[in-house]
Amino acid sequence: MSKTITLSVIKADVGGFIGHSGVHPELIERARGLLAGSPLLIDFRVTSVGDDVNLIITHEHGRNNGEIHQLAWDTFVACTDVAKKLKLYGAGQDLLGDAFSGNIKGLGPGVAEIEVEERKSEPVIVFMADKTEPGAWNFPLYKMFADPFNTSGLVIDPSMHGGFIFEVRDLIENKKIKFTMPEDLYDMLVFIGAPGRYAIKRIFHRATGEIAASSSTQRLNLMAGRYVGKDDPVCIVRCQSGFPAVGEALEPFAFPHLVSGWMRGSHSGPLMPVAQRQSTPTRFDGPPRVCALGFQLAEGKLVGPQDLFDDPAFDNSRKTALDIADYLRRLGPFEPHRLHLDEMEYTTMPLVMEKLKDRFISLRTKK
Ligand code: F6R
Ligand code: MG
Ligand code: MG
Repeated sequence: MSKTITLSVIKADVGGFIGHSGVHPELIERARGLLAGSPLLIDFRVTSVGDDVNLIITHEHGRNNGEIHQLAWDTFVACTDVAKKLKLYGAGQDLLGDAFSGNIKGLGPGVAEIEVEERKSEPVIVFMADKTEPGAWNFPLYKMFADPFNTSGLVIDPSMHGGFIFEVRDLIENKKIKFTMPEDLYDMLVFIGAPGRYAIKRIFHRATGEIAASSSTQRLNLMAGRYVGKDDPVCIVRCQSGFPAVGEALEPFAFPHLVSGWMRGSHSGPLMPVAQRQSTPTRFDGPPRVCALGFQLAEGKLVGPQDLFDDPAFDNSRKTALDIADYLRRLGPFEPHRLHLDEMEYTTMPLVMEKLKDRFISLRTKK
């Protein structure tokens, strides 16, 4: 029996280069230096998508481990020092707490973790998005694990035919619920179709109970009670042999679905799948992007990455995303390009309302 390996993906925006578009190479170097010096890890990769630093680490300490989270926190703090020195934009913006308190959750960084008994071969994909929110994974995760038009294995592979169990979080009321596929499909869609509030946190193989996928579900703006940047999410998906094939996990991104985020976290836009080198959001700070790095785990070693969207097979999706971006941009400040008032992260509404309050004339008839 192979040992239990934990794959943790922990991300934070600790300073943008330039503006909110990218990560300066010195931050990546600093993070690599720190992780390389830690005896806690089996292996690691440091990468970036847009203005977020992503730590992809493997170890044997399980999920929610204080020492591992402390290491990630210290790494982001050290990167913040570099960002401050270079006067990068929004240095330390995702580090909400002043001090680490045992678990990185609730302190700002996003976390997705899976604990696995490595199979004979263990292919995993780490998805990382910029300029959007955790609920952005609802649509693709639903397609991968519950839609037979996307995943043929649900129909024709006996090891998948039994379906999957979805754990969904209510991000506003901080509650969770499990849905069993396919029986609960219609009920689940009532919730996950509202990704600003409900987000798929974890998916399990129904027959074996094994973890199949895990996402980060932090909402920074809720935690801070004010705007502190979008909660650009990450997600881990196990592939093959009872889980979606790599191609089934990537297939949902052939359609660039609309997500919330983009400029000032207040606009709707298409999620464009890109190679890591193309992950710098420029046009109107976007459009929102997603990268997919594939790894084979080998006794906890990260064999890879393979940059999975670096493939002309996704050119049409990118073209569609750009056409949608053109169309939406022409709406300017009008909904549905601009998000509904409740979902916007920036708003001048109270200010303008206060200024104009005496100019509003009530039309209610007096009794
Ligand atoms: C969206 C994002 C950017 C910023 C925008 C304004 O998630 O990070 O679109 O919201 O560049 O940034 P500030 O307010 O920092 O000038
Ligand atoms: Mg930013
Ligand atoms: Mg970001």
